[in-house]
Amino acid sequence: MPFSRLVYLTRIGLVHGQADDSVRPGSYHGGMAQFPTELEPSDLIGCVVDKSRSRIRTMFGEIAGRYDFMNHLLALNIDRLWRRRMVRMVPPRDERPILDVCSGTGDLALAYDRLARYRNLACPIVATDFCPEMLAIGREKVARSGARDRITFIEADTIHLPFDDGQFQIVAVSFGLRNVADTDRGLAEMARVCRPGGQVAVLEFSMPRKQPIRGIYRWYFRHVLPRVGQWLTRNATNAYVYLPESVGQFPQADALADRMRVAGLNAVRFYPFTGGIATLYVGHR
Ligand SMILES: C[S@@+](CC[C@H](N)C(=O)[O-])C[C@H]1O[C@@H](n2cnc3c(N)ncnc32)[C@H](O)[C@@H]1O
Repeated sequence: MPFSRLVYLTRIGLVHGQADDSVRPGSYHGGMAQFPTELEPSDLIGCVVDKSRSRIRTMFGEIAGRYDFMNHLLALNIDRLWRRRMVRMVPPRDERPILDVCSGTGDLALAYDRLARYRNLACPIVATDFCPEMLAIGREKVARSGARDRITFIEADTIHLPFDDGQFQIVAVSFGLRNVADTDRGLAEMARVCRPGGQVAVLEFSMPRKQPIRGIYRWYFRHVLPRVGQWLTRNATNAYVYLPESVGQFPQADALADRMRVAGLNAVRFYPFTGGIATLYVGHR
């Protein structure tokens, strides 16, 4: 890590900082959702999805320039509402730092920054990702929005986070964990750097349970999204074929909640958004 970053992180107490147990866990208690933990075999669009570090980095590097545009277009802008809802459901409670892993172009970090300012909390926000092209766009966006002093981008792999244990009040990820080659190590790292009493939040795509939304979603994911995505981004790594494949193979509902418990998190709950197209998982450290 460059020295200036190290100085900054030391200043805000992330490196060699002390975890403080004085703040109680978050008080949000929503209902436990019930929907199938396994997808039907027909939902698994591909066979083995290559999530090697080099493939994933290259793929996001290729599409970085169009990532935000495609994201908002293909999700019809609902992704913004989901992130906003996520930060409201897992809000900052004090001025300890917040970590957004697999941050990409920083939309979740920016959503946390907006909420923290609204609540008059000066929380430092750290955004990590291993793809330099995505981080570069994130830095530009953050500079444009005047948040450069509050949001720090660091190039880091989620399975080796460069932070001491128990540093963050919230460790969050949106649409990123699915891409991490080793889900359990990613979750374990997120739990490790979260302070006792803090929260780990994961927002990820999921398979809706009910018709007709389930049928529409599968049709859109299989036929529309890969074609439109590939056509508009013309990337060599098939990023928009990978997207539905990776969603089809990623654990969801109770299956992911169980993995979070194994990673050392307690009171894990999940909340489907928009009929279950996306799901928010929240665990306490
Ligand atoms: C689909 S994007 C999500 C970006 C952002 N969180 C959002 O909500 O739009 C996934 C991001 O995860 C990053 N990523 C995937 N695996 C990673 C890993 N092991 N460590 C760090 N970043 C990773 C990719 O580089 C990419 O920027």
